[in-house]
Amino acid sequence: MVAFLRRPRFTIILIPTFLFCTAVLFYVVQNQYHIKNTLSYATRPLWDKDTGPKEMIPHYYAEGLPMDAHTCQLHGWKERERSDVKVLDAVLMSSELDLLEIRMNELDSVVDYFLIVESNGTFTGLPKETFFANNRARYAKFEHKIVYRFLPGYPLAQGQTAWDVEANTRATMTSLLRDHTRSFPSGTQSVVLMSDIDEIPARHTAELVKACDFGSTIHLQLRNFLYSFEWYLGPSSWRASANLWTDATVYHHSKFTERILADSGWHCSYCFRTIPEYIAKMKGFSHSDRIGGRIDLLDPKRIQQTICRGKDIFGMLPEAYSYLDFFSQMSLDPLPSAVGLPRYLLENAEKYRFLLPGGCQRSS
Ligand SMILES: *[C@@H]1O[C@H](CO)[C@@H](O)[C@H](O)[C@H]1NC(C)=O
Repeated sequence: MVAFLRRPRFTIILIPTFLFCTAVLFYVVQNQYHIKNTLSYATRPLWDKDTGPKEMIPHYYAEGLPMDAHTCQLHGWKERERSDVKVLDAVLMSSELDLLEIRMNELDSVVDYFLIVESNGTFTGLPKETFFANNRARYAKFEHKIVYRFLPGYPLAQGQTAWDVEANTRATMTSLLRDHTRSFPSGTQSVVLMSDIDEIPARHTAELVKACDFGSTIHLQLRNFLYSFEWYLGPSSWRASANLWTDATVYHHSKFTERILADSGWHCSYCFRTIPEYIAKMKGFSHSDRIGGRIDLLDPKRIQQTICRGKDIFGMLPEAYSYLDFFSQMSLDPLPSAVGLPRYLLENAEKYRFLLPGGCQRSS
């Protein structure tokens, strides 16, 4: 009697348990990469440290503040004694034509030369459009300042990685900088801004590093934005730098010094005008394993929703080094302010609606 009662009950429990475990197992196998990432991102504040520079130099600026001995001294620097100082802005060309235009207009009044290296291959060795060469007329206003070098792309050789191609591309910029600065009268000081196109130093920052002797190299802390200037992640961007050029200087995008000047500009990641640009970027990303076989991530409707909600484009958790940042980045509030952004962006707000508050809709 007892056994007769128990057996069906046992089966009632066993079958759902079995189905549940099979479903979990199936899910884990299907989403291995995503689960591994979720675990590692969720615990990052426990095991990982921010590798950025640590020696923060407070930054002083108000509109119209002259870049004189007093302002230099506020930063602990001396005013440069010479007047033959050139400022060079050096970038590797990506596809970001809009940000390049905003950048050049922001820096035009202080930069003497815009150096651009562009390839017809990606870091992963695939053919790519030469966006700058094909749209050069758009930058005609700056033509007399542009120093351009084309680097032929090539398929990766055996054992070569995207990092090798990237290093080679940076070395090309180093040699372009050497060649170009050699044409200056001897004794000229050259201040070189090194950053990606989407890392834009503020005009007043460029004026400050031109006027003041900041030493040989200093990183520039930038306000970090995602998709547009509506989604602010925090002041976490540090790779950009200002450098006094010498024969031994190399073009870099990694940590070169612990010194970093606070609040020096803007870093706008994934700030594209159209949905196809998002898809292309996601496919071509050096960490393209982020897609992890999940083709649904490339669905235009999902991408559009993600942009309007300020969520991660790969559906991953925020890459944060403290739980305070982690949780604040988990649910970002859109910024209702466009105060203190690049001036050209505001003067051309209609053209750049997609970068401004309320402009999250992308064209397809
Ligand atoms: C890149 O340009 C070079 C030189 O113009 C050409 O030989 C090469 O085939 C191009 N590569 C690609 C991937 O288009």
